[in-house]
Amino acid sequence: MGLSFEQLKPLKWGGEIPDPIKREAMVLGEDCVVDPPVILSPMAAVTNPPFRKLCREMGAGLVVTEMIYARGLIHRDKKSMRLLDLRPEENPVSVQIYGKELDELAQACQIVQEAGANSVDLNMGCPMKKVVSSGHGAALLKDTEKVYQIFKSMSEAVDIPVTGKIRAGWEDSNAVEVAQAMESGGAAAVTIHGRTRSDMYDGHADLRVISELVKAVNIKVVGNGDVSDYISARRMFSVTGCDAIMVARGCLGNPWVFREIAADLRGESIPERPTIEGLEETVSKHVQLYIDDFGIEVTSRQIRKHLLWYFRDTPAEVVLRLALKNIETQDDIKRAIRDACLALKNDT
Ligand SMILES: Cc1cc2nc3c(=O)[nH]c(=O)nc-3n(C[C@H](O)[C@H](O)[C@H](O)COP(=O)(O)O)c2cc1C
Repeated sequence: MGLSFEQLKPLKWGGEIPDPIKREAMVLGEDCVVDPPVILSPMAAVTNPPFRKLCREMGAGLVVTEMIYARGLIHRDKKSMRLLDLRPEENPVSVQIYGKELDELAQACQIVQEAGANSVDLNMGCPMKKVVSSGHGAALLKDTEKVYQIFKSMSEAVDIPVTGKIRAGWEDSNAVEVAQAMESGGAAAVTIHGRTRSDMYDGHADLRVISELVKAVNIKVVGNGDVSDYISARRMFSVTGCDAIMVARGCLGNPWVFREIAADLRGESIPERPTIEGLEETVSKHVQLYIDDFGIEVTSRQIRKHLLWYFRDTPAEVVLRLALKNIETQDDIKRAIRDACLALKNDT
């Protein structure tokens, strides 16, 4: 007997395991009950309808779209409207927008509300040069008065809850000031990724900054950064006292993380990690959802990165890379998945 898939992708944890944490739903509004309080993070070019649907089915209590440019929505340009493609079965769903002009953000919120979103989120955490150089994303953290004005304008424009996603600060932490400005402006919740803009993705998320924020504001606080299994989820809840957690990189190629955290929050035993057969089944389902939404041409281009995430750091990775060189049809994709799973089996 060799390694199971579970052993191939071990829990990334080296310390003491915190006690289980029971957490009720996080209520942001009548139509936005986050149950369980574990959220799929917004991720550009990742959190599209098929992935959101899969993660909801796996147990995420709320899913968030990729960030959409507010001005693009107002001009109803093709790309922005495609990103605003929401499906009733994924509710509750939050739409993340980015922008910096008060009137544009307010109008974009109205468009998002009309599209059927259960809440709207403002991106104030994106660290990318091309985003911050035009004053968007994390650049907003530098001007708390503007943050207040923006949230006032957004929350007065719509009935759905308005939330914001921030980093700990630009260079130094000023998360408390930013979140207090959001609260005064009418925000229902703040998600904080415990790194500054200067940190980019280096080091570990600073959980102290998150716990200070929890104590300093009366709105809901969502903790984000380095949650990749039920143990790191327990740690985020117990160290910070946050109301909900958000998972990004930890669910790439691992949508089961939501099932695992959801069960733990309900006090149930942790579900088994998937067998190789279970892995094949979920990957095939993800591909089918993709084809149903986007057709085979787009799927064959975009599904590669997801497939590589599923088999990352396993002996099947090399086999998969080779098989992915020429995929055009659904049968090609099926064959690539089958070859990768066979490589896993042969290695065990
Ligand atoms: C591929 C990718 C795309 C991302 N896109 C967005 C985005 O559109 N909006 C946003 O607020 N954060 C975005 N993020 C940041 C994540 O939502 C999250 O805050 C960050 O990765 C830290 O969480 P993690 O440690 O669970 O990955 C992105 C992250 C990744 C890896």
